[in-house]
Amino acid sequence: MTMFTLKRALLTAARIKQCRFFSASQNNWNNRKGLVLGVYEKEGETDSFDLTTAARSLDDAVSGKLSELLKISGPALKKGKNRIFYGLHEDFPCVAVVGLGKNNAGVCGSENWDTGKENIRAALSAGCRLLQDLEVSHVEVDACGDAQAAAEGAVLGLFQYDLLKTKKKTKVTTQLHGSDDVAGWEKGILYGEGQNLARILMEGPANLITPTAFADTIEEKLAPYSERVAVYKRSQGWIEEQQMGAFLSVSKGSEEPPVFLELHYNGSPDKTQAPLLLVGKGITFDSGGISLKPPSGMDAMRADMGGAATVCAALVTAVALKLPINIIGLAPLCENMPSGKASKPGDVVTAKNGKTIQVDNTDAEGRLVLADALCYAHTFSPRAIVNAATLTGAMDVALGSAATGVFSNSDWLWERLHQASVVTGDRVWRMPLFQHYTRQVTDSQLADLNNVGSSRSGGACTAAAFLREFVTAPHWAHLDIAGVMGNKDEVPYLRKGMSGRPTRTLVEFAARLAQEA
Ligand code: BES
Ligand code: ZN
Ligand code: ZN
Repeated sequence: MTMFTLKRALLTAARIKQCRFFSASQNNWNNRKGLVLGVYEKEGETDSFDLTTAARSLDDAVSGKLSELLKISGPALKKGKNRIFYGLHEDFPCVAVVGLGKNNAGVCGSENWDTGKENIRAALSAGCRLLQDLEVSHVEVDACGDAQAAAEGAVLGLFQYDLLKTKKKTKVTTQLHGSDDVAGWEKGILYGEGQNLARILMEGPANLITPTAFADTIEEKLAPYSERVAVYKRSQGWIEEQQMGAFLSVSKGSEEPPVFLELHYNGSPDKTQAPLLLVGKGITFDSGGISLKPPSGMDAMRADMGGAATVCAALVTAVALKLPINIIGLAPLCENMPSGKASKPGDVVTAKNGKTIQVDNTDAEGRLVLADALCYAHTFSPRAIVNAATLTGAMDVALGSAATGVFSNSDWLWERLHQASVVTGDRVWRMPLFQHYTRQVTDSQLADLNNVGSSRSGGACTAAAFLREFVTAPHWAHLDIAGVMGNKDEVPYLRKGMSGRPTRTLVEFAARLAQEA
């Protein structure tokens, strides 16, 4: 320790001693309270800032000490930067101040999202995490003018999958600070928790999140709402009765029994309202089957049930929000494994609608399980069908993690999904459904369809064209979520790991649809 740092440490110690706010009880690490406050960059001035309403009132309560400290502690807080102050207020031993960027940033036409909301999510997530790292167990959060985005940032930012670790991160409870928008805050908590449910299912190892365990988890989550929700865990016998030959051709290579999960949410006051159908690919592990994948990165294929996870989590959230809408969720759940019973390249299988499929690549299994699920979805005369699937590596090549690719036969449906995603910041981007791609999947030596395109190019588009062969409904959208499946550091308010995207966009879409007649 240099003389300078020693002197500074002694000075700090003396100041702490003097501080009337610093009591012995607050020195108990485990029950300290923290506060996260926002600051905006001041328009037109580089080294100045504006406090949010909540930050201003705290500043007033401590006689301007907060703004004074902000000025002397370094340059004005830019977007994404933060600082912690200790002993500033008797109720909050730790105050994290986070940079929100410009005030009233609003919707950005080129980015296709609401920059203001994204800034709030990112800043508050970082602030909450800073305090979590200091083992602060309760954090009050500045609404920063948008309580829902603030709550989403806090809940998503604090999430860490440490269920299977002995040493866990501090459990942090959060509370709205300095705002009366309790409804917005609670909505944001539910949206964030919905996405976190999908993250838990996706991140969980395949030996624990089997098809049966997946279905049981969702059933458990929906148990408190049994008067409005019905859960059916269809077993192999039922799947056979339904003549879902494409789904069964995938599941038969595994020792784990398949489950066809069917959820009915009756939220609309109009009992006869046509339901929104949500369908998710539920491959709890995708080894590739006989067309085995290379070993590097194969562990990520535990998240190949991301479609099922996000649609089921969205349905659970819609139920918790009591959205006035009818929704049916369908998830064909199974493993894709190599074995003596597994499908072989060149095998021909028959889907529920009677179409025959030549399975030239057993690793293109998602489209097989979805083909049958889409046929079944039509039996409910749906208002719209939205399916989500980690369907192709090619989708990741095309858009990376910036946006979910949407293939839709309906401008009406596309517009609504897009509008929802601008609000949530979990973006979608439209992709083509040209006959050009259809021709490539109907080119089969033995059957009506081939499960891989005759050209290697445009893999996400040929997969979508294949699914379209099982759709007659006028409003259908296929969401290829392979690119957004995981997060390294691209989304600042999600830690590294499986992302649970685009659960919030699905919820927002359903919420908006519920408002339409
Ligand atoms: N589950 C994979 C797609 C995937 C890859 C999702 C990477 C997330 C990250 C899918 O079942 C698959 O293997 N698709 C093949 C299709 C090909 C054989 C036509 C692919 O994308 O390579
Ligand atoms: Zn595959
Ligand atoms: Zn797959």
